[in-house]
Amino acid sequence: MRVIAVASGKGGVGKTNVSVNLALSLCNAGQRTLLLDTDLGLANIDVLLGLSPRFTLADVFAGRCELRDTLVKGPAGLWVVPAASGKRHMTELTPAEHVGLVHAFSQLDVPLEAMVIDTAAGIADGVLTFCQAAQDVVVVVCDEPASVTDAYALIKVLSRDRGVRRIQVLANQVHHPNEGKALFAKLERVTARFLDVTLNYLGAVPRDEWLRRAVQRQEAVVEAFPSSPSARAFTDIARRARQWQSPPGQRGHIEFFAERLVAQPGSALA
Ligand SMILES: Nc1ncnc2c1ncn2[C@@H]1O[C@H](COP(=O)(O)OP(=O)(O)OP(=O)(O)O)[C@@H](O)[C@H]1O
Ligand SMILES: [Mg+2]
Repeated sequence: MRVIAVASGKGGVGKTNVSVNLALSLCNAGQRTLLLDTDLGLANIDVLLGLSPRFTLADVFAGRCELRDTLVKGPAGLWVVPAASGKRHMTELTPAEHVGLVHAFSQLDVPLEAMVIDTAAGIADGVLTFCQAAQDVVVVVCDEPASVTDAYALIKVLSRDRGVRRIQVLANQVHHPNEGKALFAKLERVTARFLDVTLNYLGAVPRDEWLRRAVQRQEAVVEAFPSSPSARAFTDIARRARQWQSPPGQRGHIEFFAERLVAQPGSALA
């Protein structure tokens, strides 16, 4: 199973929309996909998709239900694990709760080919942990100075402290295809100079009024307006993501993801 984490550093650049539409595009291409919400921001996944989850991961940790009870079926057969409700971010789980997560994921009897993780803004420990545990990290960036510097800060800690060697860069809300390439070139210049990490350009998603309209309707743009410019861009990006080679030596199973979460350096359980 392929695990893809979506992060950005700066908030509001489009992580949740990228996660949802990438996951749905993978589903539409025939991959059984699970979308894991690890952010409690206002625009979280259940709101974006108009879902009403009965349980969240918080209930799993409180022993009120099993992980499979939190699964909500979204459009196109997408499985969604909603964010834990409450004040804490799921990215602030204790080591004991990480163990609970390992256990819960290893008992999940849903066959999956892909898992997409939406993360919170910022570079909190939990965000880094989810990125580290995934095989691929998509960093979303848009054409604002703060977005570029925050993306760089995120890539820096991921490569220096978390051993991440490969980053996929997605430019969002671009006005012109060249804007995405220019943003990528800017990031690549500084990372090549100062960091030991390879950046790949995953592509650009245009700023698109149809995407806003879809958000208003609590639908994903690839479902609501599949021929809109942003939906087509997401479909292309998912096609490219399906062609990524797994980094060597990985087991490709959901337990692997969970084990890596626990075995991170600095974890009390490592
Ligand atoms: N390609 C796009 N075209 C037009 N508007 C967009 C696009 N991408 C994102 N937006 C707008 O930006 C808003 C924020 O997007 P989203 O919630 O996906 O960002 P986020 O990075 O997940 O934010 P947060 O950091 O709060 O979690 C969306 O509600 C939408 O209005
Ligand atoms: Mg979000």
